[in-house]
This record gives sequence, structure tokens and C-alpha cells, in this order.
Amino acid sequence: MNFTRRLVMKGAAVAAASFTTETACAAAPAPAVAGDRTAQDIAGDEAFWRTIAAHYDVTPDVVNFENGYWGLMANPVMEAFFRNTEKVNRNNSWYARRDYYADIQPIHQRLADFLDAGADEIVFTRGATEALQGLVGGYNRLKPGDAVMYSDLDYDSIQAAMDTQAERTGASVVRITIPEPVTYDTLLETYRQALAANPKVRLLLLTHISHRTGLMIPVREIVDMARGFGVDCIVDAAHSWGQTDFRMEDLGADFVGFNLHKWIGAPIGAGLMYIRRDRLADISPNISERPEGTGAIFNRVHTGTTNFATFLTVNDALDFHELVGPKNKAARVAYLRNLWAEEMRGDDRIEILTPNDDRLHAGITSFRFKGKTSADDNKAIVNALVEKHGIFTVIRTGVTNGACIRVTPSLYNNAGECVQLVRALRSLLAEV
Ligand SMILES: Cc1ncc(COP(=O)(O)O)c(C=O)c1O
Repeated sequence: MNFTRRLVMKGAAVAAASFTTETACAAAPAPAVAGDRTAQDIAGDEAFWRTIAAHYDVTPDVVNFENGYWGLMANPVMEAFFRNTEKVNRNNSWYARRDYYADIQPIHQRLADFLDAGADEIVFTRGATEALQGLVGGYNRLKPGDAVMYSDLDYDSIQAAMDTQAERTGASVVRITIPEPVTYDTLLETYRQALAANPKVRLLLLTHISHRTGLMIPVREIVDMARGFGVDCIVDAAHSWGQTDFRMEDLGADFVGFNLHKWIGAPIGAGLMYIRRDRLADISPNISERPEGTGAIFNRVHTGTTNFATFLTVNDALDFHELVGPKNKAARVAYLRNLWAEEMRGDDRIEILTPNDDRLHAGITSFRFKGKTSADDNKAIVNALVEKHGIFTVIRTGVTNGACIRVTPSLYNNAGECVQLVRALRSLLAEV
């Protein structure tokens, strides 16, 4: 029995109500398994999502609303990872030197097809950091007197990479603050005004979904706008692919860093660098590469010996991703986010840091109790949530307007846990 079929049958046993054994045994792709309903219809179907949750082995010790660090592998993916690890370990270089390349090529191509990118436009990395370090550190168009720009919501180590690259090239750094609260229009206007006010900026870092607040930015619009100002964008898609569904064309970006171990559900240590074909020359080869052969994206990354089993298992992660359905996944995590965030938004003692606009958030959203802006304030709330209510979240700092607490539901969370979070927040608000 193939993987898809086993998976669906196992799910069907858990919640027979949501799909029949006949349907389940048909090894159909996710939309058919889920019937003809749209992703929005399915998003709130707890019985359906219980069948998906049944494929995750999750600790019962806590309600885990901190799925932003990395994503659990679903059981079939983890089993494949064990098998691949065993195979690679047993065969050692007998496998790696002779057969690995042939095995990994179709997976590489499958990733390119998923993203609607050319296979010559992507290369494996160990994560988004490695991809973005290669892009920022390799960007070779900065000259003394130029400037680079990023916002307070971008990722710490990539902000630092922008600082380092600016210093190396004699460029200056422009830091902007994303307003709170923000709307679609004020967000675009913030970037437009910042670009207009800083004509020396040549390179802009954009984080598709912020790890600090969960804000999802309209990358395509900002990339197009920046291009009008003669500015290149490097896009940090660490949190977006898999949490939301898109193709490269939807981003319109020339340089993108991804990982596959957050929302695609691959083993830890998998990511991608994307460089649009006609922009390859603008990213220099990795420091460990010789200048010859600069015509291929492969020499923009030089990892050394990689975890072969991790990359092989990307295929199984993509199977599961496809089975659940990328659109279903995106709709579900946004639905769970709405259950708690939109319920709490009416309470003027709390700030919900992504707007009620589905263009500007996915599943992640952070909150702050009004006036509680220090790291210590927020650590105390994170501790109270876990100790008094059994709910695990994480503090985020670095937001200009103050620290906050990030809530990240995943596919195995459920509506009941969101209600539990709402109750916990109300109880803590009553105490402060
Ligand atoms: C916005 C953002 N960028 C980059 C990264 C780094 O990703 P990776 O762990 O794949 O290197 C993260 C990880 O949390 C992130 O949230």
C-alpha cells in the first residue's frame, strides 16, 4: 500500500465521519479526500482536522502554540526520515557518491515545480538563514555611498547580515518602523515614503511573514514599488511557504530565502535559495567556490557534507503537504488564529498585532497587554500562560513599540485549544 493510501486510511479510522473508507482508500489527493468543499469550508471542520492531527505525535504535556520555531514532522515523514537515515548510514559513501545525485534530482525538480520556478533557479540550503546569508553576503551591486534598508520586523540575524554587508561595501543602513496598528494602505505608504525619502537605498530586506508579530506583507506590491525606485529586494520567506500558498510569480522577487522545516514539515536542516535566472550574476559565488563555473546557482551555496537523509525526506514532506492541501493548510491556521485573535480584539486591554485583514496575516499573530512593553513584562505573561494554563507561547522582542507574545497554531491544534487560550488571556487580564 502506498504512503498516501496508508496515511488516508489511518486518518479515516480516526474520524470516519469526515470521509468514507471508500474515499479514503482511493488514495486521492487532499482536495478530493476533503470532498468538493473549499479550503474555507474545511477550515473549521474539527472532525476533518482531527484526522490530520492523528498523523502527528504531539506531547500531551502542554498546549503547544509555539510552532514557529520549526514544524513537527508528521509521522509518515518522520518514518521516512528514519528509513532514509538508516539507508544512508548503512551504505555510507557507497550510496552518497553513486546514487544520491540521481535520487535528489527529482526532488529538486519537484520543489521547483511546486514554486513554479526553474530547477536552475533554486538550490538546497540547510535553512533560510543559510540561503539569506548567501544572498545578502553575495549581493555585489552595493557601492560606497549607497544604502540598504530593513524594518524592525525583519529577522535579527538577517538584519545583522544587512549591517555587515553595508559596512563591507561602504553603504549606510536605513532602519524603518512598521506602524502599529497597520493597514494595507499604511503599510504600502510606509515603504513608499521611506524609499522616496532615502534615494540612496539600493537593497531592501522584506520578510514575507514576520517572526515577531506575524504581519504578512504584500511582497509583490512592495517589490514592484521598490523596482520603480531602482531598489532590489531580498525576500525572507522562512515563515511563509507552507503557512500560506503561493508561487514565485506571486512574490515577483528576484532573490528569496526559504526553509522547508517550518511549514513544509521536512526534517530540520532543509531550505532553499532562489535567484531569478537573469539575476544570477548579481549574487557572487560562495567564498568557498572557485570563480570558474559561476554560471550555476549551485556555487552560491557551499554547505559541505550535508544531511542526505534530510534532503531525501523533503519528498515525503511534500507528499504530506500535498495530501493535506496547501490551501487547506493556509485556511486552517488562519482560522485558528481568528478564533482567538479576533475574539480578543474587542478587549481594549490587549493589542492584537496583526490586523483583521486576511491579506496581512496567516496563522501567526502576536499580542501585547496594553502598556506591557518590556521583555520582563512579557516573560511574566508567557510564564503565567504555561504555568497556570498549560499553554506554551514565546516572547518576541525587537518590535519598536515593545515586546510581545507570539501565538503560532499548527495543523494539530484545534478550536478547543483556541477557546482555552481566550479564557487564559481573560483570566490573566483580570489579574493585571
Ligand atoms: C523570519 C525568519 N527568517 C529567518 C529564519 C531562519 O530560518 P532557519 O532556521 O531556517 O535558518 C527564521 C527562523 O525562525 C525566521 O523566523
